[in-house]
Amino acid sequence: MMRLLKPITLCSLLTVSTTLSVAQTDTRQLVQFPPMMQEHMLANMRDHLVALNAILTQLSQGEFESAADVAESRLGMSSLESHGAHHMAKRMPPGMRQAGTQMHQAASRFALRAQEGDEQAAYQALSEVTQTCITCHAAYKIR
Ligand code: HEC
Repeated sequence: MMRLLKPITLCSLLTVSTTLSVAQTDTRQLVQFPPMMQEHMLANMRDHLVALNAILTQLSQGEFESAADVAESRLGMSSLESHGAHHMAKRMPPGMRQAGTQMHQAASRFALRAQEGDEQAAYQALSEVTQTCITCHAAYKIR
């Protein structure tokens, strides 16, 4: 029964989200950064995606410790320094800054869950990380 239901649910979810993205107008707030900061931010973003992919690969191999390390050092509270977050945050509107903080906190929470080795809790915590990506992307643009 579950096997039958899952693909159906997935299909209807995909249909709904496709319809939404086509119908939506772009309501994101434009945040203007100096050119160098804009480049820096986009480079950080691309690294976020690389980190996310590394985390998923490691989880799929049961390497929870490595997944936790990547999350903490590249997305979590420990990554703030290397991303120049303090410098960037000063130029962000409060909502954007908050979304950034939430991402770093969610990644550190994921790292803890992964270290505990509870697979389901880890995936749940990881989806809370990607939710923070979505929240910020839905609200802001820089170009
Ligand atoms: C604080 C807000 C914020 C958070 C949190 C955030 N992003 Fe972004 N991201 C942006 C903005 C703003 C852009 C640029 C959108 C535009 O103007 O094109 C962007 C762009 C990107 C890009 C495109 C980079 C390029 O070179 O064009 C990727 C990939 C990306 N983000 C991945 C992620 C991932 C993965 C996460 C979560 C782990 C994440 N982002 C979290 C704000 C955020």
